[in-house]
Amino acid sequence: MKKNFLVIGNPIDHSLSPKLHNYWIKKYKIDAIYEKRLLNNNEIENLIFNIREEKIHGINITVPFKKMIIPFLDELSEEAEISQSVNTIYKKDNKIIGDNTDIEGFKLSLEKTEQEIKNKKALILGAGGVVPSIIIALKKMQIEKIYISNRTELKTTELKKNFPEIEIIKWGQTLDFDIIINATSIGLKEEDEININYQQISKDKFFYDVIYNPPETNFLKKAKKYGGITKNGKMMFIYQAQKAFFIWHKVVPEVDNETINLLDV
Ligand code: ATR
Repeated sequence: MKKNFLVIGNPIDHSLSPKLHNYWIKKYKIDAIYEKRLLNNNEIENLIFNIREEKIHGINITVPFKKMIIPFLDELSEEAEISQSVNTIYKKDNKIIGDNTDIEGFKLSLEKTEQEIKNKKALILGAGGVVPSIIIALKKMQIEKIYISNRTELKTTELKKNFPEIEIIKWGQTLDFDIIINATSIGLKEEDEININYQQISKDKFFYDVIYNPPETNFLKKAKKYGGITKNGKMMFIYQAQKAFFIWHKVVPEVDNETINLLDV
């Protein structure tokens, strides 16, 4: 019987998850289909019911539901629990389980860059849904210090309750760092700008943007112009999907050039 998988979010149009998962589903000859669905808050309960009934076999969750979905689930993986963020759902032993593969996705993508993270200082811009996963991944990689800067300071103080070791700095400020991560949505539109002094801070520093579409945000463009090393969020996206695919199908799909090129938009 064909199994059904979904990614839910709002908005959802931009999601490349169906393209990637369906490519792997076909490659490994799995009898399944993966679709995207625009969801409203009042539809979550019914959706989870469909997993219980095995009409849906797995779901990926994106903005803004990663935290909101938690009360509807029976159990969380350790990573979902500590991040309070769920991006992958499945049913096991009659329980609906929420897992988080963003942490591993971000961590693997960083490891592949071969940039040293251990004992380094990171500055994260933004305090939205993906940030707890980034913090946890950086801690696993033995980062020395994490600074956070967000336009709405209240959100950073909320984060600090879960991660007391992070240090909050004012939005627009920078300081001595080794790696700077854009985890805001600034850059999704081509013309978006993050106003920091690139000329002063970029040289030999590592700039990571969680955004992968467009492939080079102004944040990365400007950093590169002034001698920064840059990386977009494409590999994070691919690795989080790889782990979700394994959870559902018990196959580790290969990440080769064809997979990577598939996502060039
Ligand atoms: P959510 O905040 O609902 O989790 P998100 O897409 O995960 O949504 O996060 C958006 C992030 O981009 C937030 O950190 C947001 O800052 P605020 O907390 O101040 O809203 C940031 N962001 C989006 N647009 C921005 C802008 N024009 N200037 C500064 N920060 C912006």
